[in-house]
Amino acid sequence: MSAPLICPSILASDFARLGEEVAALEAAGADWVHIDVMDGHFVPNLTIGPDVVKALRPHTSLPFDVHLMVAPVDPWLEAYRQAGAEVLSVHPESGPHVHRTLARIRELGAKAGLVLNPGTPLSALEWLVDSVDLVLLMSVNPGFGGQSFIDQTLRKIEDTRAILDHAGSPAILQVDGGVTAANASACASAGATALVAGTAVFRGGREQYAANIAALKSRS
Ligand code: DX5
Ligand code: ZN
Repeated sequence: MSAPLICPSILASDFARLGEEVAALEAAGADWVHIDVMDGHFVPNLTIGPDVVKALRPHTSLPFDVHLMVAPVDPWLEAYRQAGAEVLSVHPESGPHVHRTLARIRELGAKAGLVLNPGTPLSALEWLVDSVDLVLLMSVNPGFGGQSFIDQTLRKIEDTRAILDHAGSPAILQVDGGVTAANASACASAGATALVAGTAVFRGGREQYAANIAALKSRS
């Protein structure tokens, strides 16, 4: 089993030096840059607009994995794609027609991700398996970094892995929220192929990023 992709969430980074931070993540061995977009409506926090993503694009060659915690989400898809997002992940609760939203993401040339909150049942995936390139399971309730991993997510990872394998889907299974070196192995063993981590990557400062990322990879 190959090590999961490590996708540091820049929500935990130094917002005063974002360009340097994404360059440092690339140097430290990150696979993707996870960008948490929050609108203060769908989630109780406000973060990063498309112009910031566009400004960051030249600072790294890593794929931008944009997690849209925005409602309604459809009006924003094109702006974040044009800003440089390779992955656009959306919550089924953030618009009236998620099947069409996922198709639109693919039309824009990005990978389509479906994000399931801790309380969102896996049945939301039932008729969308062929519409997704990625399933993102939230292991915290969205809006903030630094929260504790919700343990029942491990069973949800196993159940999602079974659904994707049964369908022969190549979709990436990503986990997001409270992921650390202590639970990365359990997530990977349960079937996750990508891990989002903010606090666990950025803790200790820039000289620690490589070791923190390696710890997530090695334990998984
Ligand atoms: C929460 C975000 C997560 C979060 C992860 O709404 O979607 O990506 O930033 O941060 P940590 O790893 O600190 O829980
Ligand atoms: Zn996220």
